[in-house]
Amino acid sequence: MVEPSIERYLSDLAAVDDEPVLLEMEELARSKDFPIVGRLCGRFLEVMARTAGAKRIFELGSGFGYSAYWFARATGPDGEIHLTDSDPDNERLALDFLGRAGLDRPIRYHVGDALSSLADTDGTFDVVYCDIDKQGYPEAWRQARRRVRVGGLFMCDNMLFHGSVLQPDDDLGRAVDETNRAIAQDPDWRSFINPTRDGVVAAVRLR
Ligand SMILES: C[S@@+](CC[C@H](N)C(=O)[O-])C[C@H]1O[C@@H](n2cnc3c(N)ncnc32)[C@H](O)[C@@H]1O
Repeated sequence: MVEPSIERYLSDLAAVDDEPVLLEMEELARSKDFPIVGRLCGRFLEVMARTAGAKRIFELGSGFGYSAYWFARATGPDGEIHLTDSDPDNERLALDFLGRAGLDRPIRYHVGDALSSLADTDGTFDVVYCDIDKQGYPEAWRQARRRVRVGGLFMCDNMLFHGSVLQPDDDLGRAVDETNRAIAQDPDWRSFINPTRDGVVAAVRLR
């Protein structure tokens, strides 16, 4: 969405972390063509979670733990991070990667439907982060908005969805657009979509 040379410039600035496990996760994503959030979004997640003083985080759609890597950096060792994915192989990979990176905070990996796992988990969260299939975005927002503490964050990736939010005949684009509008118009929340990569929203709960 951002002019490519500017996006490259921003990515280069962000490319200072070269821990072997991080590079290994990025190589796995490349080789399997698996959609991780990448450096720019990852650092944004970490910065926002640190700013919110986040300790308890719930991720909807975790894959093999790349986005959780950035959240785990933010929470410190006393964080509690819930990961979810329908694919059991991803649990094994995520626990191995995060363990070897020294980021094995108390982690609970829920295998199954992400929104059912959220419903089955008690309490509120400092951050709920969403990266599931796009048709689930409106319901993810409806559920998550009640589960973030006041002052906490709802964050969600792909909020521009390659520009398809502008195309009314695109079902998935419409689902993302509906979610964007619901967040932006919610009087209990203030939000901003960072337009780098595919757009990631950071919304803070006011009351
Ligand atoms: C885009 S990837 C997540 C990437 C991850 N957030 C990262 O950046 O490392 C989406 C993942 O969510 C899972 N997924 C999608 N919809 C889901 C749902 N409704 N419930 C559980 N998992 C889901 C997919 O299996 C996939 O692994």
